[in-house]
Amino acid sequence: MSQSVSAPSDDLDTLKIELAAAVASAADSAALDALRVSALGKKGRITDLMKTLGALPAEERKMRGAALNVLKDEIAVAIDARQKILSAAALQDRLSRESLDVTLPARPQNEGRIHPISQTIDEIVTLFASQGFAVAKGPDIESEYYNFEALNIPSSHPARDMQATFFMPSSGEYKMVLRTQTSPVQIRTMREQKPPIRIIAPGRTYRCDYDMTHTPMFHQVEGLVIDEATHMGHLKGCLLDFLREFFGIDDLPIRFRPSYFPFTEPSAEVDIGCSRKGGELKLGNFGDWLEILGCGMVHPNVLKNCGIDPEKYQGFAFGMGIERLAMLKYGIPDLRTFFDADLRWLKHYGFMPLDIPNPALKA
Ligand code: DAH
Repeated sequence: MSQSVSAPSDDLDTLKIELAAAVASAADSAALDALRVSALGKKGRITDLMKTLGALPAEERKMRGAALNVLKDEIAVAIDARQKILSAAALQDRLSRESLDVTLPARPQNEGRIHPISQTIDEIVTLFASQGFAVAKGPDIESEYYNFEALNIPSSHPARDMQATFFMPSSGEYKMVLRTQTSPVQIRTMREQKPPIRIIAPGRTYRCDYDMTHTPMFHQVEGLVIDEATHMGHLKGCLLDFLREFFGIDDLPIRFRPSYFPFTEPSAEVDIGCSRKGGELKLGNFGDWLEILGCGMVHPNVLKNCGIDPEKYQGFAFGMGIERLAMLKYGIPDLRTFFDADLRWLKHYGFMPLDIPNPALKA
Protein backbone atom coordinates (compact mmCIF):
# COMPACT_ATOMS: atom_id res chain seq x y z
CA MET A 1 0.00 0.00 0.00
CA SER A 2 2.76 2.40 1.02
CA GLN A 3 4.64 1.45 -2.16
CA SER A 4 1.75 2.35 -4.42
CA VAL A 5 1.51 5.85 -2.83
CA SER A 6 5.19 6.78 -3.03
CA ALA A 7 6.10 5.16 -6.37
CA PRO A 8 4.05 7.37 -8.70
CA SER A 9 5.93 10.56 -8.04
CA ASP A 10 9.28 8.77 -8.25
CA ASP A 11 8.68 7.61 -11.78
CA LEU A 12 7.27 11.02 -12.69
CA ASP A 13 10.38 12.71 -11.30
CA THR A 14 12.55 10.50 -13.46
CA LEU A 15 10.40 11.20 -16.50
CA LYS A 16 10.56 14.93 -15.77
CA ILE A 17 14.35 14.91 -15.59
CA GLU A 18 14.56 12.91 -18.81
CA LEU A 19 12.11 15.13 -20.74
CA ALA A 20 13.62 18.37 -19.42
CA ALA A 21 17.06 17.24 -20.57
CA ALA A 22 15.69 16.32 -24.00
CA VAL A 23 13.98 19.73 -24.31
CA ALA A 24 17.14 21.56 -23.33
CA SER A 25 19.19 19.70 -25.90
CA ALA A 26 16.68 19.88 -28.80
CA ALA A 27 18.81 21.36 -31.55
CA ASP A 28 16.11 22.88 -33.70
CA SER A 29 12.37 23.44 -34.08
CA ALA A 30 11.85 20.11 -35.83
CA ALA A 31 13.48 18.16 -32.99
CA LEU A 32 11.49 20.14 -30.46
CA ASP A 33 8.25 19.39 -32.31
CA ALA A 34 9.01 15.69 -32.39
CA LEU A 35 9.64 15.83 -28.66
CA ARG A 36 6.35 17.63 -28.06
CA VAL A 37 4.49 14.91 -29.94
CA SER A 38 6.29 12.07 -28.17
CA ALA A 39 5.53 13.56 -24.73
CA LEU A 40 2.25 15.43 -25.03
CA GLY A 41 0.75 14.17 -28.32
CA LYS A 42 -2.19 11.74 -28.55
CA LYS A 43 0.08 8.77 -28.05
CA GLY A 44 2.71 10.64 -26.04
CA ARG A 45 4.23 9.33 -22.87
CA ILE A 46 2.47 11.74 -20.51
CA THR A 47 -0.82 11.19 -22.33
CA ASP A 48 -0.39 7.41 -21.97
CA LEU A 49 0.20 7.81 -18.24
CA MET A 50 -2.97 9.92 -18.01
CA LYS A 51 -4.89 7.03 -19.55
CA THR A 52 -3.79 4.69 -16.73
CA LEU A 53 -5.32 6.90 -14.04
CA GLY A 54 -8.76 5.34 -14.38
CA ALA A 55 -7.53 1.99 -13.06
CA LEU A 56 -6.18 3.50 -9.80
CA PRO A 57 -7.99 3.72 -6.43
CA ALA A 58 -9.69 7.11 -5.92
CA GLU A 59 -7.20 8.61 -3.41
CA GLU A 60 -4.17 7.62 -5.44
CA ARG A 61 -5.80 8.74 -8.70
CA LYS A 62 -6.28 12.20 -7.26
CA MET A 63 -2.67 12.63 -6.20
CA ARG A 64 -1.15 11.10 -9.30
CA GLY A 65 -3.55 12.98 -11.54
CA ALA A 66 -2.48 16.27 -9.96
CA ALA A 67 1.19 15.32 -10.28
CA LEU A 68 0.74 14.35 -13.93
CA ASN A 69 -0.97 17.66 -14.70
CA VAL A 70 1.85 19.59 -13.11
CA LEU A 71 4.37 17.60 -15.14
CA LYS A 72 2.40 18.17 -18.33
CA ASP A 73 2.32 21.93 -17.74
CA GLU A 74 5.99 22.10 -16.81
CA ILE A 75 7.02 20.25 -19.96
CA ALA A 76 4.76 22.44 -22.14
CA VAL A 77 6.27 25.61 -20.62
CA ALA A 78 9.80 24.24 -21.09
CA ILE A 79 9.09 23.42 -24.74
CA ASP A 80 7.72 26.94 -25.39
CA ALA A 81 10.70 28.56 -23.70
CA ARG A 82 13.09 26.43 -25.74
CA GLN A 83 11.15 27.32 -28.90
CA LYS A 84 11.69 31.03 -28.22
CA ILE A 85 15.41 30.50 -27.72
CA LEU A 86 15.67 28.47 -30.94
CA SER A 87 13.73 31.10 -32.98
CA ALA A 88 15.88 33.94 -31.67
CA ALA A 89 19.02 31.94 -32.48
CA ALA A 90 17.73 31.15 -36.00
CA LEU A 91 17.02 34.85 -36.61
CA GLN A 92 20.43 35.83 -35.29
CA ASP A 93 21.99 33.24 -37.57
CA ARG A 94 20.14 34.62 -40.65
CA LEU A 95 21.07 38.18 -39.74
CA SER A 96 24.73 37.30 -39.51
CA ARG A 97 24.69 35.28 -42.74
CA GLU A 98 22.53 37.56 -44.95
CA SER A 99 23.45 41.14 -45.67
CA LEU A 100 21.87 43.98 -47.62
CA ASP A 101 24.04 46.06 -49.88
CA VAL A 102 22.31 49.41 -49.96
CA THR A 103 24.73 50.66 -52.57
CA LEU A 104 23.39 48.24 -55.22
CA PRO A 105 21.42 49.94 -58.03
CA ALA A 106 17.61 49.54 -57.78
CA ARG A 107 16.16 46.62 -59.69
CA PRO A 108 14.70 47.79 -63.00
CA GLN A 109 10.95 48.01 -62.71
CA ASN A 110 9.52 46.38 -65.77
CA GLU A 111 5.83 46.81 -65.33
CA GLY A 112 3.64 49.85 -65.51
CA ARG A 113 4.18 53.19 -67.19
CA ILE A 114 2.46 56.53 -66.79
CA HIS A 115 0.71 57.40 -70.05
CA PRO A 116 2.07 60.58 -71.68
CA ILE A 117 -1.40 62.16 -71.45
CA SER A 118 -1.55 61.61 -67.67
CA GLN A 119 2.02 62.85 -67.36
CA THR A 120 1.29 65.97 -69.40
CA ILE A 121 -1.88 66.72 -67.41
CA ASP A 122 0.15 66.41 -64.18
CA GLU A 123 2.74 68.83 -65.51
CA ILE A 124 0.08 71.33 -66.64
CA VAL A 125 -1.73 71.15 -63.30
CA THR A 126 1.54 71.60 -61.40
CA LEU A 127 2.56 74.65 -63.40
CA PHE A 128 -0.81 76.38 -63.16
CA ALA A 129 -1.03 75.50 -59.47
CA SER A 130 2.15 77.51 -58.99
CA GLN A 131 0.23 80.44 -60.53
CA GLY A 132 -2.65 79.93 -58.07
CA PHE A 133 -5.06 77.97 -60.30
CA ALA A 134 -7.36 75.29 -58.84
CA VAL A 135 -8.59 72.30 -60.89
CA ALA A 136 -12.29 72.27 -61.88
CA LYS A 137 -14.25 69.43 -63.46
CA GLY A 138 -17.36 68.97 -65.57
CA PRO A 139 -19.22 66.04 -67.16
CA ASP A 140 -18.23 64.48 -70.50
CA ILE A 141 -21.90 64.23 -71.49
CA GLU A 142 -22.99 67.82 -71.58
CA SER A 143 -26.10 69.78 -72.49
CA GLU A 144 -25.95 71.84 -75.69
CA TYR A 145 -26.75 74.78 -73.45
CA TYR A 146 -23.42 74.54 -71.58
CA ASN A 147 -21.41 73.32 -74.56
CA PHE A 148 -22.64 76.02 -76.97
CA GLU A 149 -25.52 78.31 -76.01
CA ALA A 150 -24.17 79.77 -72.74
CA LEU A 151 -20.80 80.22 -74.44
CA ASN A 152 -22.39 82.69 -76.83
CA ILE A 153 -22.70 80.13 -79.66
CA PRO A 154 -26.44 80.16 -80.58
CA SER A 155 -27.82 77.28 -82.67
CA SER A 156 -27.75 79.37 -85.86
CA HIS A 157 -24.07 80.23 -85.33
CA PRO A 158 -21.63 78.94 -87.96
CA ALA A 159 -19.12 78.12 -85.20
CA ARG A 160 -21.30 75.11 -84.31
CA ASP A 161 -20.52 73.51 -87.67
CA MET A 162 -16.79 73.73 -86.97
CA GLN A 163 -17.19 71.25 -84.15
CA ALA A 164 -18.30 67.87 -85.54
CA THR A 165 -20.48 66.95 -82.61
CA PHE A 166 -21.63 63.57 -81.26
CA PHE A 167 -25.28 63.91 -80.27
CA MET A 168 -26.76 61.74 -77.52
CA PRO A 169 -30.37 60.56 -77.27
CA SER A 170 -32.11 63.39 -75.44
CA SER A 171 -35.60 64.60 -74.65
CA GLY A 172 -35.27 68.04 -73.00
CA GLU A 173 -35.19 71.52 -74.50
CA TYR A 174 -31.46 71.17 -75.17
CA LYS A 175 -29.91 68.11 -76.75
CA MET A 176 -27.22 66.20 -74.86
CA VAL A 177 -23.83 66.00 -76.58
CA LEU A 178 -20.39 64.59 -75.87
CA ARG A 179 -18.68 67.87 -75.01
CA THR A 180 -16.72 69.18 -77.97
CA GLN A 181 -14.53 71.40 -75.76
CA THR A 182 -13.70 71.93 -72.08
CA SER A 183 -15.16 75.46 -72.28
CA PRO A 184 -18.53 74.40 -70.70
CA VAL A 185 -16.59 73.97 -67.42
CA GLN A 186 -16.18 77.78 -67.51
CA ILE A 187 -19.96 78.17 -67.39
CA ARG A 188 -20.43 75.58 -64.65
CA THR A 189 -17.71 77.18 -62.53
CA MET A 190 -19.02 80.73 -62.93
CA ARG A 191 -22.52 79.57 -61.98
CA GLU A 192 -21.26 77.79 -58.88
CA GLN A 193 -18.57 80.15 -57.59
CA LYS A 194 -18.35 83.85 -56.99
CA PRO A 195 -15.39 85.81 -58.36
CA PRO A 196 -12.47 85.94 -57.91
CA ILE A 197 -12.19 82.72 -59.97
CA ARG A 198 -8.95 81.10 -61.07
CA ILE A 199 -9.34 77.59 -62.44
CA ILE A 200 -8.05 75.19 -65.04
CA ALA A 201 -10.17 72.32 -66.31
CA PRO A 202 -8.30 69.43 -67.94
CA GLY A 203 -10.44 66.65 -69.39
CA ARG A 204 -11.73 64.57 -72.30
CA THR A 205 -13.44 66.11 -75.28
CA TYR A 206 -15.05 64.52 -78.35
CA ARG A 207 -15.45 65.31 -82.03
CA CYS A 208 -16.41 63.19 -84.98
CA ASP A 209 -12.93 63.29 -86.63
CA TYR A 210 -10.19 60.75 -87.36
CA ASP A 211 -6.84 61.32 -89.10
CA MET A 212 -3.10 61.91 -88.29
CA THR A 213 -3.96 64.90 -86.10
CA HIS A 214 -7.51 64.08 -84.92
CA THR A 215 -9.09 61.32 -82.84
CA PRO A 216 -12.79 61.16 -81.84
CA MET A 217 -11.75 61.45 -78.19
CA PHE A 218 -8.98 63.81 -77.18
CA HIS A 219 -8.03 66.06 -74.27
CA GLN A 220 -8.12 69.76 -73.67
CA VAL A 221 -7.29 72.03 -70.79
CA GLU A 222 -9.34 75.13 -70.22
CA GLY A 223 -8.30 78.11 -68.14
CA LEU A 224 -10.49 80.82 -66.63
CA VAL A 225 -9.69 83.87 -64.52
CA ILE A 226 -12.40 86.30 -63.39
CA ASP A 227 -11.71 89.28 -61.16
CA GLU A 228 -12.35 93.01 -60.97
CA ALA A 229 -9.24 94.31 -62.65
CA THR A 230 -8.03 91.45 -64.84
CA HIS A 231 -6.76 92.56 -68.23
CA MET A 232 -5.06 91.24 -71.33
CA GLY A 233 -1.60 91.86 -69.84
CA HIS A 234 -2.39 89.26 -67.17
CA LEU A 235 -3.47 86.82 -69.87
CA LYS A 236 -0.24 87.33 -71.79
CA GLY A 237 1.97 86.97 -68.70
CA CYS A 238 0.14 83.87 -67.52
CA LEU A 239 0.49 82.04 -70.85
CA LEU A 240 4.05 83.23 -71.45
CA ASP A 241 5.16 81.84 -68.08
CA PHE A 242 3.29 78.60 -68.59
CA LEU A 243 4.54 77.90 -72.13
CA ARG A 244 8.17 78.69 -71.36
CA GLU A 245 8.13 76.56 -68.21
CA PHE A 246 6.23 73.71 -69.86
CA PHE A 247 8.61 73.42 -72.80
CA GLY A 248 11.64 74.27 -70.66
CA ILE A 249 12.83 76.96 -73.08
CA ASP A 250 13.51 80.25 -71.27
CA ASP A 251 13.51 82.44 -74.37
CA LEU A 252 10.71 80.66 -76.27
CA PRO A 253 9.10 83.39 -78.39
CA ILE A 254 5.33 83.78 -77.89
CA ARG A 255 3.10 85.64 -80.37
CA PHE A 256 -0.53 86.68 -79.84
CA ARG A 257 -2.37 86.79 -83.19
CA PRO A 258 -5.85 88.38 -83.37
CA SER A 259 -8.51 85.72 -83.95
CA TYR A 260 -12.16 84.95 -83.29
CA PHE A 261 -13.95 82.84 -80.67
CA PRO A 262 -17.61 83.45 -79.85
CA PHE A 263 -16.95 83.36 -76.09
CA THR A 264 -14.09 85.87 -75.97
CA GLU A 265 -13.65 89.45 -77.14
CA PRO A 266 -11.01 90.32 -78.09
CA SER A 267 -9.74 86.83 -79.02
CA ALA A 268 -6.29 85.66 -79.94
CA GLU A 269 -4.48 82.60 -81.12
CA VAL A 270 -1.10 82.02 -79.57
CA ASP A 271 1.91 80.87 -81.58
CA ILE A 272 5.27 79.69 -80.27
CA GLY A 273 8.62 80.04 -82.02
CA CYS A 274 9.90 77.08 -84.01
CA SER A 275 11.98 75.92 -86.92
CA ARG A 276 10.87 73.52 -89.64
CA LYS A 277 14.21 73.34 -91.43
CA GLY A 278 14.90 70.03 -93.12
CA GLY A 279 11.37 68.85 -92.31
CA GLU A 280 12.24 68.61 -88.60
CA LEU A 281 10.20 70.58 -86.10
CA LYS A 282 12.23 72.28 -83.37
CA LEU A 283 10.88 74.70 -80.76
CA GLY A 284 12.77 77.89 -79.95
CA ASN A 285 13.80 81.25 -81.27
CA PHE A 286 14.25 80.32 -84.94
CA GLY A 287 11.94 82.80 -86.73
CA ASP A 288 9.11 80.43 -87.69
CA TRP A 289 5.76 80.08 -85.82
CA LEU A 290 3.51 77.25 -84.66
CA GLU A 291 -0.05 77.74 -83.42
CA ILE A 292 -0.54 76.27 -79.95
CA LEU A 293 -3.73 77.58 -78.30
CA GLY A 294 -6.74 79.91 -78.30
CA CYS A 295 -7.56 82.59 -75.74
CA GLY A 296 -9.17 85.95 -75.10
CA MET A 297 -11.04 88.20 -72.69
CA VAL A 298 -14.30 86.56 -71.56
CA HIS A 299 -17.20 87.94 -73.65
CA PRO A 300 -19.68 90.08 -71.63
CA ASN A 301 -22.54 87.88 -72.88
CA VAL A 302 -20.89 84.84 -71.31
CA LEU A 303 -20.53 86.65 -67.97
CA LYS A 304 -24.20 87.72 -68.14
CA ASN A 305 -25.27 84.13 -68.92
CA CYS A 306 -23.62 83.15 -65.63
CA GLY A 307 -25.14 85.96 -63.55
CA ILE A 308 -21.87 87.92 -63.33
CA ASP A 309 -22.00 91.70 -63.85
CA PRO A 310 -19.69 92.52 -66.81
CA GLU A 311 -19.53 96.15 -65.63
CA LYS A 312 -17.87 95.01 -62.42
CA TYR A 313 -16.01 91.84 -63.42
CA GLN A 314 -13.88 90.81 -66.32
CA GLY A 315 -11.41 88.09 -67.02
CA PHE A 316 -9.63 85.91 -69.50
CA ALA A 317 -9.93 82.36 -70.76
CA PHE A 318 -7.80 79.99 -72.79
CA GLY A 319 -8.03 76.50 -74.17
CA MET A 320 -5.50 74.09 -75.60
CA GLY A 321 -5.12 70.51 -76.79
CA ILE A 322 -3.20 68.27 -74.41
CA GLU A 323 -2.15 65.73 -77.06
CA ARG A 324 -0.65 68.55 -79.09
CA LEU A 325 1.38 69.76 -76.11
CA ALA A 326 2.54 66.21 -75.37
CA MET A 327 3.45 65.51 -79.03
CA LEU A 328 5.54 68.67 -79.22
CA LYS A 329 7.29 68.19 -75.88
CA TYR A 330 7.97 64.47 -76.17
CA GLY A 331 8.40 64.11 -79.94
CA ILE A 332 5.40 61.86 -80.57
CA PRO A 333 4.61 62.00 -84.29
CA ASP A 334 1.10 60.49 -84.67
CA LEU A 335 -1.79 61.50 -82.44
CA ARG A 336 -3.72 58.28 -83.09
CA THR A 337 -1.06 56.18 -81.34
CA PHE A 338 -1.98 57.72 -77.97
CA PHE A 339 -5.09 55.57 -77.88
CA ASP A 340 -3.98 52.37 -79.64
CA ALA A 341 -3.25 50.74 -76.27
CA ASP A 342 -0.01 49.30 -77.72
CA LEU A 343 2.24 48.28 -74.82
CA ARG A 344 5.40 48.64 -76.93
CA TRP A 345 4.44 52.27 -77.60
CA LEU A 346 3.70 52.85 -73.92
CA LYS A 347 7.04 51.35 -72.89
CA HIS A 348 8.75 53.75 -75.26
CA TYR A 349 6.83 56.96 -74.60
CA GLY A 350 5.48 56.25 -71.09
CA PHE A 351 6.98 57.46 -67.83
CA MET A 352 8.30 55.55 -64.84
CA PRO A 353 6.50 56.48 -61.64
CA LEU A 354 9.69 57.46 -59.84
CA ASP A 355 11.34 59.07 -62.82
CA ILE A 356 9.03 61.95 -63.58
CA PRO A 357 10.58 65.17 -64.80
CA ASN A 358 8.63 67.55 -62.60
CA PRO A 359 8.78 71.11 -63.94
CA ALA A 360 7.90 72.48 -60.50
CA LEU A 361 11.19 71.13 -59.15
CA LYS A 362 13.30 73.03 -61.66
CA ALA A 363 15.97 75.04 -59.91
N1 DAH B 1 -12.76 75.88 -76.88
C1 DAH B 1 -11.86 76.26 -77.94
C2 DAH B 1 -11.71 75.11 -78.93
O1 DAH B 1 -12.05 74.00 -78.59
C3 DAH B 1 -10.52 76.61 -77.37
C4 DAH B 1 -10.57 77.92 -76.66
C5 DAH B 1 -10.26 79.07 -77.32
C6 DAH B 1 -10.95 77.98 -75.33
C7 DAH B 1 -10.33 80.31 -76.70
C8 DAH B 1 -11.00 79.21 -74.68
C9 DAH B 1 -10.69 80.37 -75.38
O2 DAH B 1 -11.36 79.35 -73.42
O3 DAH B 1 -10.76 81.56 -74.74
O4 DAH B 1 -11.26 75.32 -80.01
